[in-house]
Amino acid sequence: MKPKILTILGARPQFVKAAVLSRIIQKNNLLDEIIVHTGQHYDANMSEVFFEEMEILKPKYFLNINGLNHGAMTGQMMEKIEEIMVLEKPDVVVVYGDTNSTLAGALAAKKLGVKLVHIEAGLRSFNMAMPEEINRILTDRISDLLLCPTETAIENLQKEGFAHFDNQIVKTGDIMLDAVQYYSKTSQEKATRYKSLNLEKGKFVLATIHRQENTDDLNNLKAIFEGLDEINRTQTVILPLHPRTKKILENNHLQYKIKIIDPVGYFDMLELLKNCSMVVTDSGGLQKEAFFNQKPVIIARSETEWVELVENGFAKIVATNKIEMLQAFEFFKNREINFDKPLYGSEVGEKIHEEIFKLFC
Ligand code: UD1
Repeated sequence: MKPKILTILGARPQFVKAAVLSRIIQKNNLLDEIIVHTGQHYDANMSEVFFEEMEILKPKYFLNINGLNHGAMTGQMMEKIEEIMVLEKPDVVVVYGDTNSTLAGALAAKKLGVKLVHIEAGLRSFNMAMPEEINRILTDRISDLLLCPTETAIENLQKEGFAHFDNQIVKTGDIMLDAVQYYSKTSQEKATRYKSLNLEKGKFVLATIHRQENTDDLNNLKAIFEGLDEINRTQTVILPLHPRTKKILENNHLQYKIKIIDPVGYFDMLELLKNCSMVVTDSGGLQKEAFFNQKPVIIARSETEWVELVENGFAKIVATNKIEMLQAFEFFKNREINFDKPLYGSEVGEKIHEEIFKLFC
């Protein structure tokens, strides 16, 4: 019998990452995978579209747990995931990234004594006010196999004393690179939404804003959107809007001149990335996706986990300072940058698959 993997996911970036590994698992046919979707992201354009477009294995379990406070959300997820684990008896549980779904899956697995693999381990923002930072620190600490995207991630774990703990740490590179490379081959023909936007190549800025620290503080949110409106005077700013941000803008009757659209699927996102001039974002994943598409990034946060991007001049941190946002826009506008640096590895999905399979050899 093949070893059984239980993959826990629930939020948009996890669908992208799991798509890569799922495809490789099916191709190699050495492991059996079952997917649990917690339901953390549930709108069709935040979830379903990814499963359809990226041909991700259909989840066997959909928990529909969302719209709750952090404690309730994580707790309810844990309870349901535990029931599924008791039923399915997986040999290994795989969790991705830093969401509440990640932490819930990790805690449930560890308490049942099931081997736990954390993909995207070792990342730190050193900002304990971020729910994601709490999730990733706790998940790393209890994981058996920590698969790290960067050398910095490995160093972070070493500094936290992981050498003294009983787990295995491996640098694999970043799995999002594989997703960009694989789906970029067909994104142009499939990106219907992008085509309908009629944007001029190289003449628009792609923006996304959804982090709790930005959305839940109205001053921060206003400063970011005012900065984007300023940029929009020079280049069209297009922003696929996360439901959290949408709700807050609507509830506070905030309106801006930038072009706000509904969240888009992965193919449309790839085309937006390929054709924009630069990216403004507070997302973690999009920072790297911009780099993979050779686009500079303005980071609307006070720190980043992807420090290599800033160190190499591919990104600038501006937090919620609109003057700095505009300065960064002027700095990157029309600038020739050589993005030719292998910061995030290659063939990452295959490496991750190999490391997981080795657990059973
Ligand atoms: C979550 C992750 C974050 C990740 C992000 C990617 C946590 C703590 N945060 O943040 O690490 O970068 O996903 O997008 O897990 N909502 C909808 N429709 C949806 C999805 C969400 O209306 O399809 C609403 C929720 O009900 C909630 C808000 O949007 O009110 C925020 O969603 P939530 O799941 O709390 O986290 P994200 O901000 O998406």
